[in-house]
Amino acid sequence: MMRVDGWRLGDPVFTADRIATRVGELAAAISADYAGDELTVISILKGSYIFLADLTRALSIPVRVDFLGLSSYVGAESSGEFEWNARMTTSIRDRQVLLIEDIADTGRTLRHVIDHLAADEPLSIRVCAFLDKPMRRVVDIPIDYVGFEIPDHFVVGYGLDYEGWFRQLPHIATLERA
Ligand code: XMP
Ligand code: MG
Repeated sequence: MMRVDGWRLGDPVFTADRIATRVGELAAAISADYAGDELTVISILKGSYIFLADLTRALSIPVRVDFLGLSSYVGAESSGEFEWNARMTTSIRDRQVLLIEDIADTGRTLRHVIDHLAADEPLSIRVCAFLDKPMRRVVDIPIDYVGFEIPDHFVVGYGLDYEGWFRQLPHIATLERA
């Protein structure tokens, strides 16, 4: 049993097998939607790195990948005030852009990123979130591709972390007090 800083893993929410199946379905849908075209995939660090790796390897269209990183200034809950810690190096002007996020919660992170990228005049911006907590939404955002909807429980694994821990898990699990 993995424990860290007074927390332990709860029951699996999505197994590695179930995730692999769902990621394959998402990749097929994205490849079909952009058939004959090309895609600039932008990963929001850090939580989306495993999802990004699995998803992009299953796409059948030409793809290039770039990264951006931001964190909210105040507290654990995203405040709407962000600090950039990684910038893209690719131009997205006149490109089809797909944003990859680990989880959509209040929606503030995605709203901030979408508004920021729109200034660079891409042809289109769509969003693919591995997880979605729709009941937590504060800011309205379009999510074009969703892996799984989940209730308002904190989850870790498959790239998602608690204070940097548990990203390595191949499945998604809840976090419980140890
Ligand atoms: P907003 O509120 O801006 O936040 O949509 C999105 C970010 O909040 C984090 N987040 C989580 N991270 N397990 C996590 O590991 C969760 O259950 C969870 N819920 C929200 C995450 O960093 C995401 O990018
Ligand atoms: Mg994150």
